[in-house]
Amino acid sequence: MSFVEIRGASKAYAGQLAIDKVDFDVDLGEVHSLVGENGAGKSTLCKALAGAVVLSGGTITIDGKLMKFETPKDALDAGVVMVYQETSLVPTMTVAQNIQLGKEKALNRLRGLYIWGQQLLSSLNFHVDPTALVSSLGAAQKQMVEIARAVFHEAKVIIFDEPTATLTPEEKQHFFDLVANLKARGTAIIFISHALEEALETSDRITVLRDGKNVITAPAKEFTRAKLVQSMVGRAVTAVERKPRKPVGEKRKVLVVENLSQGTMVKNMSFSVYAGEVTGMSGLVGSGRTETAKVIAGATKRNLMHGGMVYLDGRAVRYRVPRQAVDDGIVYVTEDRKLNGFYETMSVGENIYLSWLASKDGRGLFVSKGQQRKIADKWKDRLSIRSVSKDPRINELSGGNQQKVVIAKSLVQKPKVVIFDEPTRGVDVGSIQEIHEFIRSLAEEDIAVIVISSYLPEVLAISDRILVTRAGRVVEEFTLENATEEKIMYAAVH
Ligand SMILES: Nc1ncnc2c1ncn2[C@@H]1O[C@H](COP(=O)(O)OP(=O)(O)OP(=O)(O)O)[C@@H](O)[C@H]1O
Ligand SMILES: [Mg+2]
Repeated sequence: MSFVEIRGASKAYAGQLAIDKVDFDVDLGEVHSLVGENGAGKSTLCKALAGAVVLSGGTITIDGKLMKFETPKDALDAGVVMVYQETSLVPTMTVAQNIQLGKEKALNRLRGLYIWGQQLLSSLNFHVDPTALVSSLGAAQKQMVEIARAVFHEAKVIIFDEPTATLTPEEKQHFFDLVANLKARGTAIIFISHALEEALETSDRITVLRDGKNVITAPAKEFTRAKLVQSMVGRAVTAVERKPRKPVGEKRKVLVVENLSQGTMVKNMSFSVYAGEVTGMSGLVGSGRTETAKVIAGATKRNLMHGGMVYLDGRAVRYRVPRQAVDDGIVYVTEDRKLNGFYETMSVGENIYLSWLASKDGRGLFVSKGQQRKIADKWKDRLSIRSVSKDPRINELSGGNQQKVVIAKSLVQKPKVVIFDEPTRGVDVGSIQEIHEFIRSLAEEDIAVIVISSYLPEVLAISDRILVTRAGRVVEEFTLENATEEKIMYAAVH
């Protein structure tokens, strides 16, 4: 008998099953991975174990005892902690306060709390200031705080929902060391990831969910990447076939960035972007790619002195707010879903429609409900946005499907330049192909596309040209023909 046993777990939303009679178990000292397409039910199953979702059917047994979790606190008391896909920390509290939340230590003085917090964080090799406000942290650091929190609560079962999506390669290494450490201490670990290599490498067992059902549970060594993908999508997935490129000579420069400087992150950044091309931007996290994109899109201001120039179709532009950039046809699709201005409690259709209204096409027009649905359906279809209910609200979508809505929202505005920042983060293998094809199709419509990605196979799969950034500047440019993963990595770190 395993430490955690879930039997026949079902959860219905509005009569539709998000998970359907799932059996799943995990033992102490075991890493059990959960993989599956966006919307397959991974988060739902884990939320049930963590007390955040109440099952419509089935049972959860821990250490032989039948559990009835109604709140996350109940699960916490039973030793189950979930590190969420969308962070659950309290932004207005400090790191140390967040860590001990729900189980306040007898440390009544803040100073004591911070010394203790510092010790815990350093013992985990996390470079996070315990006195910092959580709202001031980056995604990776928030992740670390969540992990520290789980360790502090002496969790017997820790669930990681896509923990590595926002981490740098170095941070990932720390994370996997930590997982090995927890495993050695006898913690039961559930690991959700779209990075199949990670699941194959770290797990003892892997379970594949498809359409809310357990398709297979088997030891990790019995899987290959191909077999995993096959079980996830029910068919083999093949790579995008690249169409031959347009002959050079007819390239049109759309966007020119000259000596751009912003804060301490961007220093004399210069490059050009062409219509009908995908320009990949590769580089380490912190090399200034996101900040550059934000300046171009009017979300951040460049330095007042010696800030450099941005030209759109030969005209110098400087935007104070994103709205102005959008009006000029520049769209930035960010890596941070929460920043993308969803109306969380409105439906997907309404969200896409509102963006369309804000576009030049839609401005000032009255559109019937029927037409509204048509616009939304077209985009839901084009990006295969999937959900159990017919017209779901954003907060009813799985993480990966929310990412697709972000993309749809930006593209209804018929842009000239689209900047994607980590477009496939948290997106399953099948959908990654779809999004890649989609990005290529934008270039074919003569849009100038920039793709910022830390995932080299992605950059190589979709770019016509690859820029490598380091310490705030473009340090190297490759054509697709002469780019290799090794050359790009070398340029990024030397
Ligand atoms: N609160 C909710 N209300 C209605 N439907 C929901 C709700 N939460 C999840 N769903 C639906 O349940 C299904 C499973 O979602 P879940 O979040 O478990 O998927 P997932 O496997 O974690 O996907 P991803 O990899 O994209 O994170 C999806 O179809 C989703 O739309
Ligand atoms: Mg999920």
